[in-house]
Amino acid sequence: MSEQRKLVIKGGRRIEGEISVQGAKNSALPLLAAAVLLKGQTELYNCPGLSDCDAACRILSALGCSCKREGSVVCIDASAIGTSEVSEKLMREMRSSIIFMGALLGRCGQCRLSFPGGCEIGSRPIDFHLDAFRKMGAKIREEHGYIACRAAKLKGAEISFPVPSVGATENVMLAAVLAEGNTTIHNAAREPEICDLAGFLNRCGARISGAGTGTVHIEGVKRLDGCRYTVMPDRIAAATYLCCGAITRGELLLTHADIASLGPVVPVLEQIGCSIYGFGNGNVYLNAQRALKAPAQIRTAPYPGFPTDAQPPLMALCAAIPGTTMFVETVFENRYRHVSELIRLGAHIKVEGRVAVVEGVNRLTGAELEAGDLRGGAAMITAALFAEGTTKIGKICYIDRGYENIEGLLKGVGADIRIV
Ligand code: UD1
Repeated sequence: MSEQRKLVIKGGRRIEGEISVQGAKNSALPLLAAAVLLKGQTELYNCPGLSDCDAACRILSALGCSCKREGSVVCIDASAIGTSEVSEKLMREMRSSIIFMGALLGRCGQCRLSFPGGCEIGSRPIDFHLDAFRKMGAKIREEHGYIACRAAKLKGAEISFPVPSVGATENVMLAAVLAEGNTTIHNAAREPEICDLAGFLNRCGARISGAGTGTVHIEGVKRLDGCRYTVMPDRIAAATYLCCGAITRGELLLTHADIASLGPVVPVLEQIGCSIYGFGNGNVYLNAQRALKAPAQIRTAPYPGFPTDAQPPLMALCAAIPGTTMFVETVFENRYRHVSELIRLGAHIKVEGRVAVVEGVNRLTGAELEAGDLRGGAAMITAALFAEGTTKIGKICYIDRGYENIEGLLKGVGADIRIV
């Protein structure tokens, strides 16, 4: 991918003001895939303008759906689906394209997809997805880099995951809603995005219960109808902006946010010394104008544990406050790619396998960096807001995958940030 653009950030300015949080990428993507299952028109509100969402819309269009965006509303009509095959080029555009597998199996009884792209944070296998579809009666062949699935009639099944997987839980829900009989997912992922998908599908006529717990039940129904639905706020974007506010010792008001979905991010920021209040109306206030102190240990884990996606921006914050923090990354094995770049800014971080030890320093200095993945890129922005002088961040296409207008939003609260 040729990427000439760079983010240029002059650090050291306090962030102060209001940021409106985007709709959740990780919710919008499965909802867009779910539209494949629905009769009539679906209108998704608060759908973030991200390259990953554009990629999902391109897949929908290539399948024969009509898919139009106006501002943050995406209208999809899947009546005219003409194929159940997704080309390698489209699959490679984003890892989450695998989510179309469950939806296409549910709608067409078959699908042919290439292995998904993106492996920047670990090997990211899809064995849980494929094993579950087999249990539901699908025959799966893997050849020439493609996966072909076929099931004359998908049947409900008892599925048990070895560890909770967000994508596999969503994929099974998508396959099961129109399957014959009942499906139970044991050791299901409990992330808020699973609840959002269940809420959406239930509004379309599905019968899903237990979403948000470790056991999800799905009673297959004969048909689902499109509806209007608002995508939940993005909890990882919210966490990132809170880290940006905290690292500059600033004061922020997030609007259109959901403090409950932030889970342990809030107590960790409080432990660091920030004041955080949720107002119940989608407003979250942060004040970091006190002495901050690094937390002793952060262990990422499936929800309700500390989100692996918020680990990189939090690490950037810990690199710039007094104290030593031990990070233990239990979800993905290769999620420290941002560390070498933070070290270029002067951070003191040592990595040994899944453990990273961060010794906070009181000074970082701007440097030339390159994003290697989405959340790692967010960590670089967070650190650059604190670093003296100018930081330039290349390969910002990774950041575009998950943050809508991040430079505009940060500029709006006083950061010196621009794209060249
Ligand atoms: C989703 C999120 C991603 C987040 C991750 C963990 C989306 C679009 N992406 O990714 O931002 O970082 O959850 O919260 O929602 N695993 C297997 N086999 C499988 C599937 C998963 O071994 O078939 C393992 C993974 O390697 C990983 C763990 O399970 O170690 C959890 O991964 P999973 O929850 O599936 O992540 P994604 O759904 O890909």
